[in-house]
This record gives sequence, C-alpha cells and structure tokens, in this order.
Amino acid sequence: MATHAQQEDVMLRIRQMTKVFFPGTSNEKIALNRVNLDLKKGEFVTILGANGSGKTTLFNGICGTFELDDGIIILDDDDITWTKEHKRALHISRIFQDPQLGTAPDLTIAENLALAYTRKASPSLFPLNKKDYRFFRDQLTHLGMDLELRMDTKIGLLSGGQRQAVSLVMEIISQPKLLLLDEHTAALDPQTSKRILEVTNKFVRESGVTTMMITHNVKDALKNGDRTIVFNEGEIIHDYRGSERDELNPHDLQTLYG
Ligand SMILES: Nc1ncnc2c1ncn2[C@@H]1O[C@H](COP(=O)(O)OP(=O)(O)O)[C@@H](O)[C@H]1O
Ligand SMILES: [Mg+2]
Repeated sequence: MATHAQQEDVMLRIRQMTKVFFPGTSNEKIALNRVNLDLKKGEFVTILGANGSGKTTLFNGICGTFELDDGIIILDDDDITWTKEHKRALHISRIFQDPQLGTAPDLTIAENLALAYTRKASPSLFPLNKKDYRFFRDQLTHLGMDLELRMDTKIGLLSGGQRQAVSLVMEIISQPKLLLLDEHTAALDPQTSKRILEVTNKFVRESGVTTMMITHNVKDALKNGDRTIVFNEGEIIHDYRGSERDELNPHDLQTLYG
C-alpha cells in the first residue's frame, strides 16, 4: 500500500539513463552515466554542474532528442523511453537559453499564446475569441508584464526578456507534466534575469508544475526550488534538500565545480 502511494507521488522516474557520444572512437564521451533520478509531483529541482557535465544532455534525453544507449524514463506512470520527441512535447515543455528559440517571431503574442493553448488539441490559431484574449492578457498581467505590450505585437519585436516571459506563459498554459528550463535567464541582462526568475518562481508555484531548472548561478540554484542536484561528468554527485540544503553556503558549493 505504502509503495503504491509513493509511486503515485512520482511524476518523473529515470533509471540508468546512459548516453555515449562517438562510441568506440578516440572521442568517446559518456555524457550520461547510468543516471537515476525521481521527481515528485510538483517538485521544483535546480541543477548545477560545470560546463559539459551532462545537464543539457539530461534534458535532451528526457525530451527524446536522441535514443538512449541504456535506461528508462517513466513520466506520470507512462513509459516514454521509446516515445517520439514530438509526442513527448505534448507533456514536456522546455525553455532554452536563447530567447529566439521558444516563440515564432512572425506571429503575434496572441497567436503564439493561442498555439500553445491549443497544442494538446490540434495545433491551430483558432479559436481566438475575446475570452481567449482576456485569458492571455490576464496571464501576462499576472506576470507583471508591461501592459503597454499589445497582444497584436509581433514576437520578433520584443526584447529577449519579454520573449522569455511570453515563452513562460506559453509553456505554462499548455499545462505540461514537466517543465524544463535550460539556463533560460543566462542570455539576459542581470536585472531582466532577476525579473524572469521571479516570474518563473511565481508561475511554477502557482501552477504546481513539476520543474527542473539548470542554472550557472549557485545562489539562484539554492534560493529557488525545493532541491538542488549537482552534475559532474555525466553523474549526479550531490542531491541536496531539506535542512541540509538550507544550511549550504553558496561559496562552499562553488568549490564543487573544481
Ligand atoms: N549532440 C552531441 N554530439 C556530441 N557530443 C555531445 C552532444 N551533446 C553533448 N555532447 C557532449 O556531451 C557532454 C555533455 O554536454 P552537455 O550536456 O551539453 O553539458 P552541459 O549542459 O552540462 O554544459 C559534453 O562533452 C558535450 O560536448
Ligand atoms: Mg547545457
């Protein structure tokens, strides 16, 4: 009984996830080395790790960008290990570092939001009625976004920060089971980055979406979310939560990169 209840609590279960690039050559790289990871429903995990330690590869593996060399991925009790990338995208939202990647520049804010909103049905720009507009506008207001921003503004005209904010709204309104943020504030100026991080927190908390956020910033990693994992050479070398995490000194954690 207890075991059953525990399983129902789990949103993501990764077992033995392994990815080797250029196998059998002198360039062989074990990017993910038998990674095990469980995320509870609604959990917000931050991820640290030196460049090249496998963080983005973890996200690529979860999204199905490539086939794994070994391991399984269970999302909300469904085994998605062999599910095609575009099918997984119905349930997994991802925001990249580059603000250009998440949104369609030639479409308006409203059209981009409508696409996300209807993603689970057949992707379509319709229906875009007054109620939909109001809903989208509420979401943007909710984010504290500049209301001068008109819903018929083409995305291509927005700043990087505005684009990331619209991406966040898009990903959240599509009600994913999992939200993956890959250094999504790293390309922004410090002030905008702070703002987008605040918005991210608010959104994740209010929607209750299970989230992983990769960041380079140790302070951000410890200040946001419930739990922090540290990658090194394709392995999770630390998994901090609770009081142990609360008592961590960002300076001490920084030394783990060495
Ligand atoms: N598509 C790929 N082809 C070949 N090597 C890759 C590919 N993606 C990642 N790698 C290699 O795998 C390792 C982990 O990369 P990555 O997951 O992007 O690191 P991180 O996001 O932690 O900086 C690096 O050595 C990188 O060069
Ligand atoms: Mg990366």
